[in-house]
Amino acid sequence: MDAASAWHFCGMALKTRGKVARRGFFITFEGSEGCGKTTQLQRLARRLTRAGSAVLTVREPGGTALGDRIRHLLKFSRANHRMSAEAELLLFAASRAQLVREKILPALARGRIVLCDRFADSTRVYQGIGRGLDRSLIRRLNRFVTDGRQPDLTFVLDLPARRGLRRARTKTRRPDRMESQRASFYEAVRRGFRALARSEPRRVRLVDGSGTLHQVSQAIWKHLQPLLRGKGHDPD
Ligand SMILES: Nc1ncnc2c1ncn2[C@@H]1O[C@H](COP(=O)(O)OP(=O)(O)OP(=O)(O)O)[C@@H](O)[C@H]1O
Ligand SMILES: [Mg+2]
Repeated sequence: MDAASAWHFCGMALKTRGKVARRGFFITFEGSEGCGKTTQLQRLARRLTRAGSAVLTVREPGGTALGDRIRHLLKFSRANHRMSAEAELLLFAASRAQLVREKILPALARGRIVLCDRFADSTRVYQGIGRGLDRSLIRRLNRFVTDGRQPDLTFVLDLPARRGLRRARTKTRRPDRMESQRASFYEAVRRGFRALARSEPRRVRLVDGSGTLHQVSQAIWKHLQPLLRGKGHDPD
């Protein structure tokens, strides 16, 4: 059985039980540096766990032994600071391919809510728009590495690029390679994410990242609540 029919079969099996069983739900957090992805993902994970949902949190690049090695190459390894855009694209893709097969698909099949810190949309925006690589190649590559599994819901946290970088750079560590690009790169990235939200409004929700932690969390929750109910995760 291929992955798509396995997914369909799993959904059918769950529906035949009396009570609506919990079905996997895949949520990604996107946006430029320092917009609040990790903070909001963790807040949401705590909220869902308190409400009784089984949650898996993962991040990109990384999340597996292979992915963590790739993360180091992409972000922190000094020797790779001048990596080509093409090599960068393929390294992100390799990390994703492993994460999808080793962690994300198995967790979804067990009915978990998976929260992922960056995913395929980051590649579309950073490498497709920021680096100017072939966008149709990136679409095909993303389909290949994700086995065609799109997120059910994607939050793009929107914040002016400079404000996000200021937030990211007040963290205690040195900026990594992806945080050390020219200003116009981050402006293009922000525009790219906003355009993505306009082009896929059902899946991709633009959330104002400039509010307080609580305001941003509430905005996210408002989008999510009605969708979770349909999946058997009763959030109240
Ligand atoms: N709404 C907010 N208001 C003020 N500060 C915030 C807000 N959200 C996050 N921060 C702070 O901004 C910094 C960056 O947040 P966070 O690490 O969540 O962003 P990120 O999008 O995951 O960044 P990166 O792209 O570097 O992974 C952190 O110090 C965090 O505490
Ligand atoms: Mg983060």
